[in-house]
Amino acid sequence: MPRQPCAVPDPLDHARRLIADARSVVVLTGAGISAESGIPTFRGGMDALWKDFDPATLATPEAFARDPATVSRWYDWRRQKCREAIPNPGHLALAALERALEARAGRFTLLTQNVDRLHHRAGSSNVVELHGTIMHWRCSASGREIELPDGPLPTYPFPSPHCAGSLARPDVVWFGEPLPSAAVHAAQGAVADCDLFISIGTSSVVYPAAAFIHEAAAHGAATIEINRDATPISSVVDVSIRGRAGEVLPQILNPVPN
Ligand code: OAD
Repeated sequence: MPRQPCAVPDPLDHARRLIADARSVVVLTGAGISAESGIPTFRGGMDALWKDFDPATLATPEAFARDPATVSRWYDWRRQKCREAIPNPGHLALAALERALEARAGRFTLLTQNVDRLHHRAGSSNVVELHGTIMHWRCSASGREIELPDGPLPTYPFPSPHCAGSLARPDVVWFGEPLPSAAVHAAQGAVADCDLFISIGTSSVVYPAAAFIHEAAAHGAATIEINRDATPISSVVDVSIRGRAGEVLPQILNPVPN
């Protein structure tokens, strides 16, 4: 009798089953989830206006000290992009997942490397901003928050009204700066407790965020990756789904499997 080929599970079905069984879910998002809202990603998505600049060289305290006008202008340009953007179906599906887990007395934590606030605007509430937010700026000397105009800043750099000679800077984490300790603490607690970890739209190369999925897997959590392209974690996760977050997430989560 001819042997039957083994059925390869459909990754979308496999993901749905893991979500239906999960009681404590951690999601990590990166720039890819906001790409379909029109916000350029860090690696490979730069707009023509900024195509000659490497974000990694703009997102440092050294760059701000050397050329505060260019760094301020770049962040203010991104701030305008974030203000104009609207949450896409990927953001909305994650907000629905949080509500569904709450309804079945589960736990949900959304760790994001994004500074755009689109998860909040989509209705997610347990959001941990690992890299701060571009929507707030603070005094480079005192750290006090600075009220900004809704539109573009009138000058680059923008002087801080709080301390003479200091400048406004975005309240984001730059390379070489520590992550906010409350965010790290919240992330570590959620990762230690989760039975499912989902990584979405991140290149998985920036630490410590990139380590969380390995920590979750080490204590037995199931792992899913959703990304348009292959990344260093694609071959180690339980389910790797190659596609756009705004298309894949609604297919898995509308309705949320239970
Ligand atoms: P990256 O720009 O490095 O990576 C974006 C990832 O999203 C890539 O793997 C893309 O293939 C993927 N992608 C693009 N469009 C997508 C879509 N529509 N759906 C799904 N995936 C898509 O952004 P991050 O990994 O978030 O840090 O970058 C991490 C950190 O490095 C950022 O928070 C920032 C950056 O430099 C700081 O500024 C400290």
